[in-house]
Amino acid sequence: MNKAAEIGETTPGHPGPGDHRAPADSGVGSDRASTDSPIPDSVIPGAGPSPRPATPRSGDPAPSPGGTPRPGERATVRLRDTGDEEPPRYAPEWLELREPADAAARAHDLLDPLRIRLANLPGKGGIVIHDLGCGTGSMGRWLAPLLDGAQHWVLHDRDPYLLHFAAVASPRSAADGSRVTVETRRGDVARLTPDALRGASLVTASALLDVLTREEIETLADACTGAGCPALLTLSVAGRVEFSPSHPMDEEITEAFNAHQRQDGLLGPDSVTVACEAFSERGATVRLNPSPWRLGPDQAELTAQWLRGWVAAAVEQEPALKARAEKYLQERLAACEAGDLHVTVHHTDLLALSRPTGGAS
Ligand SMILES: C[S@@+](CC[C@H](N)C(=O)[O-])C[C@H]1O[C@@H](n2cnc3c(N)ncnc32)[C@H](O)[C@@H]1O
Repeated sequence: MNKAAEIGETTPGHPGPGDHRAPADSGVGSDRASTDSPIPDSVIPGAGPSPRPATPRSGDPAPSPGGTPRPGERATVRLRDTGDEEPPRYAPEWLELREPADAAARAHDLLDPLRIRLANLPGKGGIVIHDLGCGTGSMGRWLAPLLDGAQHWVLHDRDPYLLHFAAVASPRSAADGSRVTVETRRGDVARLTPDALRGASLVTASALLDVLTREEIETLADACTGAGCPALLTLSVAGRVEFSPSHPMDEEITEAFNAHQRQDGLLGPDSVTVACEAFSERGATVRLNPSPWRLGPDQAELTAQWLRGWVAAAVEQEPALKARAEKYLQERLAACEAGDLHVTVHHTDLLALSRPTGGAS
């Protein structure tokens, strides 16, 4: 079979944001899947590729998907066998590859109500923004230059390696030239408390909600509303994909992929509905906007990588699809390479305006 058609091929080695290469011992790109089978067992769901350990840790409320790419789109790779104690990592190469498409997709319509809320905060000392599950920091690189005034970003992730990338490639100045500073915090967002958000002006997250459980989203809503802090939660997968041209297997793969995303209590395409309910029940005003990836010939590398992860997750979910899915993937990759494929991967951005408690900066 043509190598290009292998399902779930791991992400090629790209430099991380700002061209900062991985430390020599990071394992990046070193643990490629076995190529005996076109369905590798080392690719982690991508979209929200949210990695999930093969054996969920007991007591872990948010097991990350394991084994296969969970495409949604965020194909990621298992960089090394981290055992039961450490969740698999998202590959910085994947996060870099998707960053331009993410930036183009993000909903600008939610920024005006957010700016109004931020402008009405008491105090003139600048704003404090907590970015949860920051990865390599793409949310800050997009949002900081769109907001006026001094900003201090607190970048949260459970992966110290990604936090390193985020700190090094952090934004430096706001829309009006004001200073932007950052700090990093390693930790599990599933354990976030209102206290951890004391003094926060805004909470952000990007490509995170769909890899959380209902309980974790409720914890997040408790923390934000308890702190009286608005939340901009972007690029959650919507579970819908459109192709041009279409193919008879599109829907079958989409359904299998969505089922894969919902494994182990993760919300996948249901995350936005659950987040809406959670924030609304806690008194917040919620607004939604679509934020689709629109992928064409100019995004062929991203499209191909996403396709591999998306199909691999579907096959992991429905092994009976394997033979037909390989052919499907081969055809799709060929069309992509020829510049004949357009894909819309639907996402949703959510803005939750909590009732102020007086504690925000
Ligand atoms: C799909 S990546 C998105 C990264 C980044 N926000 C972006 O848009 O490029 C999801 C990120 O969330 C982090 N993450 C997932 N679950 C987490 C948790 N429970 N606590 C902290 N970080 C988490 C992962 O380590 C990863 O960096």
